[in-house]
Amino acid sequence: MKRVLITSALPYINGIKHLGTLVGSMLPADVLARFSRARGHETLFICATDEHGTPTELAALEAGKDVRTFCDEQYALQKNACERFHLSFDHFGRSSSAQNRELTQHFARQLWKNGFLEVRTSKQVYSIGDGRFLPDRYVIGTCPHCGYDRARGDQCENCTRVLDPVDLINPRSAVSGSTEIDIRDSTHLFLKQSEFVPQLRAFIDSHRNDWPNLVTSIAYKWLDEGLQDRGITRDVEWGVPVPDDIGDGKLKGKVFYVWFDAPIEYIGATKEWADAINNNSWKTWWYGPESKDVTYYEFMGKDNVPFHTVGFPVTVMGSSEPWKLVDRLKGFNWLEYEGGKFSTSQHRGVFMDDALSLPLPVDYWRYWLMANAPESSDSNFTWEHFAGVINKDLNDVLGNFVNRVTKFCVARFEGRVPSEGEYGEEEKALCAELDQRIKAYTEFLEGLEFRKAMGELRAIWVAANEYITRAAPWTHFKTDRTRAAVGIRMGLNLVHLFGHLSWPVMPTAARAIHTAIQEAPSIIPWPDEPMAQFLDQLEPGQAINPPEVLFSKITDEQVGEWRMRFSGTAAI
Ligand code: MF3
Ligand code: ZN
Repeated sequence: MKRVLITSALPYINGIKHLGTLVGSMLPADVLARFSRARGHETLFICATDEHGTPTELAALEAGKDVRTFCDEQYALQKNACERFHLSFDHFGRSSSAQNRELTQHFARQLWKNGFLEVRTSKQVYSIGDGRFLPDRYVIGTCPHCGYDRARGDQCENCTRVLDPVDLINPRSAVSGSTEIDIRDSTHLFLKQSEFVPQLRAFIDSHRNDWPNLVTSIAYKWLDEGLQDRGITRDVEWGVPVPDDIGDGKLKGKVFYVWFDAPIEYIGATKEWADAINNNSWKTWWYGPESKDVTYYEFMGKDNVPFHTVGFPVTVMGSSEPWKLVDRLKGFNWLEYEGGKFSTSQHRGVFMDDALSLPLPVDYWRYWLMANAPESSDSNFTWEHFAGVINKDLNDVLGNFVNRVTKFCVARFEGRVPSEGEYGEEEKALCAELDQRIKAYTEFLEGLEFRKAMGELRAIWVAANEYITRAAPWTHFKTDRTRAAVGIRMGLNLVHLFGHLSWPVMPTAARAIHTAIQEAPSIIPWPDEPMAQFLDQLEPGQAINPPEVLFSKITDEQVGEWRMRFSGTAAI
């Protein structure tokens, strides 16, 4: 048996995420986790909130709460939203956990011991108005690379370059807006990333063929531009404290930089999971020869790629301990909202709680997002496109097929799988086509090509519709009952198949579809049999149980109303 470890980039704690974050990390990771479980692999799917760092402190300040309380509240909200989206994490942890603190300090000690950390005095932005240092997002200014005038000290949101706060042009404080800024010396720990270039290059080279171009090109760009040593401590309060035995006592009161401890939380959350269920297997997923049979997948948006191809691997390599490195790294481009950016500050676009508040099944979102995942380029959410896809693919194609076949079975065959007749040429041809398509669908999922996978799933539904249109049991029923029986028997077997194939992406709808035929197991297994066998397995005479309403259409009025409501300009 294979073991599959899957992590999704950890969502920042401050606020419910929008659909762009969902499609770029947590959702595709969930689809893979379900697919992997369906295939019988031992699967561990880990996520957590990313709680440290200046955005958290700033958001707590704005909410008028102490950071810990703020994080507790936000954690509960995000956990709930993830559950309602049916994200099937084995554990949803917190980077502020004791486990992560311990592991982060452990990695830092290893790096210190191995000589990869150095105490340096460096220039930091100091706000005279606020009487404090302004690391990372505490300072805002103009990006020196692209001229964007609201770039944050750690990274420019516009061009995605990673920045040093002192490079910002016209800096101002994010706390008070003060422009009374000074550059002062402060002592910090630096990670000597530059010493790892050859090792990193060999690591990226080894994944040339199994990581998307998007990912390797970002990684190479970083290496080619020359890796800078990285300051991994900050003058703030909220974070993992630097232990006294590191840095000869010169780092009292400092904490690690959020991007140092956050990826370590992938391991930390695994330990949280194991501790919670009193199982000490966590290390077998991550460490040494016991983890050799584990394939490790990471999912993230493109802005996260540098931290996962360079930052975290340096931490791991520099520890000189046999921790696992990522095997398959999947990065995503951006999802746009109605041709522009999702904006958290202006609340423009659909956020997870918004989506959950609408009278739409979660599977509508899950399906649309995966079918339009921003893989080879950015993609764009519009209400019109969303409604068009849902109404066509899920209502006209999938839902209609399930309804027609099951209703007709109830009306004409006493709601039982008809026993008459034998499969003929039409059915054989369909099986052959589906064997091909399911193979392609499986390979696209294995290859993490979600858009193509969904295209294949849709093509499978379409092929079934075309088959049933040709078989036309409703027309033949009066003159040739046997022929109609064959069509309906195949139709019911196809419904059953759809319950299996749709489960990774649409777990609720898949379950309802499967239940129309027979009880559904909690993990709906992947069909491995040839279709000639799989589609001939329902017991003739077995009773079925048609679903009431599987899907319903999104109306033009709803589209109009929701477009207004989420435009970020209308009053809420
Ligand atoms: N919180 C980060 C973001 O949303 C992602 C952190 S991923 C981690 O961009 F691995 F570093 F935790
Ligand atoms: Zn920029």
